[in-house]
Amino acid sequence: MAELVEHPCVQHKLAIIRDVETGHKRFRELATEITEFICYEALKNIKTKEIKVQTPVAVATCRKIDTDIVVVPILRAGVGMLDGILELVPTARVGFVGLYRDEETKLPVTYYERFPPQIHGGTCIIIDPMLATGGSTVAAIDQLKDKGADNIIVICIVTCPEGIELVESAHPDVKIYAAAIDTKLNEKKYIVPGLGDAGDRLFGTSDPE
Ligand code: PRP
Ligand code: URA
Repeated sequence: MAELVEHPCVQHKLAIIRDVETGHKRFRELATEITEFICYEALKNIKTKEIKVQTPVAVATCRKIDTDIVVVPILRAGVGMLDGILELVPTARVGFVGLYRDEETKLPVTYYERFPPQIHGGTCIIIDPMLATGGSTVAAIDQLKDKGADNIIVICIVTCPEGIELVESAHPDVKIYAAAIDTKLNEKKYIVPGLGDAGDRLFGTSDPE
């Protein structure tokens, strides 16, 4: 299932991050800000426990998050969303999946994997700005489940129906949160209109300046 975060503050930032004129510094800032908003929405039903807190006046009944949170950026572009999650959940643990799309086949190739043990029993948040064909996300979920993860959500910035369908058919238990569900993929399997190559735009690897 995919949930679209339609809040005007998110959609305003999305308009700027999509703009071809937005340079890598601003692109990075916006990726962090948008991710924080989406994460806020995605964690609204996270497990909490009741605690008592002594205020200067009296004892207050409060709630605290009661699950380990493991954020898993898909290298490399997912790293551009990491600060946004850690801003909201500073105690989150971080795992990594290294994947790139083969330029010819468009299929994901795995080159790195490292997870904390808390993926078992905790809540795992896979982050990648672009969920295009869905191949990379499905591969990351496969790896996490293979290592014992049982509760996984995906946060991306832009996705499309084809990618959502692939993830849903392979992993119906995994919910996707996004700021945009665009129309389609082009012949190079880029999301249309999308925002281009997220990794290059985040890290300045294709900037003319
Ligand atoms: C991009 C993006 C996703 C993947 C999405 O990564 O960040 O990981 O493509 O495509 P898919 O849904 O069709 O699998 P890319 O391969 O460009 O690597 P990078 O992050 O190193 O730039
Ligand atoms: N990867 C990207 O960075 N952008 C797309 O549109 C598709 C895959």
